Amino acid sequence: EPNGGLSGKHILITAGPTHEPIDPVRYIANRSSGKQGFAIAAAAAKAGARVTLVAGPVHLPTPAGVDRVDVETARQMLAAVEAALPADAAIMVAAVADWRAADAADQKLKKDGSGQPAPLALVENPDILATLGHHAQRPALLVGFAAETQKIAEHAQAKLAKKGADWIVANDVSGPPGMSVMGGDANAVQIVSAAGIESWPSLPKSEVADKLIEKVAHALASYPD
Ligand code: C5P
Repeated sequence: EPNGGLSGKHILITAGPTHEPIDPVRYIANRSSGKQGFAIAAAAAKAGARVTLVAGPVHLPTPAGVDRVDVETARQMLAAVEAALPADAAIMVAAVADWRAADAADQKLKKDGSGQPAPLALVENPDILATLGHHAQRPALLVGFAAETQKIAEHAQAKLAKKGADWIVANDVSGPPGMSVMGGDANAVQIVSAAGIESWPSLPKSEVADKLIEKVAHALASYPD
């Protein structure tokens, strides 16, 4: 490959939603398609990296040259991410479910006709990005994504510190289902870091991926091995 800016590097990427079981037939999910994360994995492999892609449930083919690990839940995703360490850079693109059912039922839950609220208690899932941000094997470069519908840069700045990340790639996911970034093919992002905010125009997800991987290669080249 002429474009070998990441040769010798291991890049760890999460993508897609997670599914959190409620009972054997129901789960909590979100509208993430996995397209942006898969595009980033493809771009990293093209740039010569060894790529581990930890994917939630999505309907996408594995990009060429990528090692894919399929998972369902946030806890499985965290375990797969930790098992893949060490990595030179981690790019956490997955839309991890913030909550899961406190006790997933073994049998299908039945409504009882009482009109009472459903007996569904939720507990918080582990934060995979924040776990890596404070990990003994923290990757030298840690990148998070932030899907926001308002005050995008402001929320992303707060997230940098909270998660211990180096960059937050913030995007505006407002818009009706089917018309928004989620599931669509284009993305307008802002890269928020200690260095400030870089705004990119709306681009196809494949171009956002190429530009981001170029920036990752540039950053890693400036770190000592
Ligand atoms: O806090 P919020 O969900 O907006 O943060 C988004 C970023 O954190 C994304 O990079 C996402 O992949 C990551 N994240 C995670 N584990 C969670 C929640 C979010 O890795 N449980």
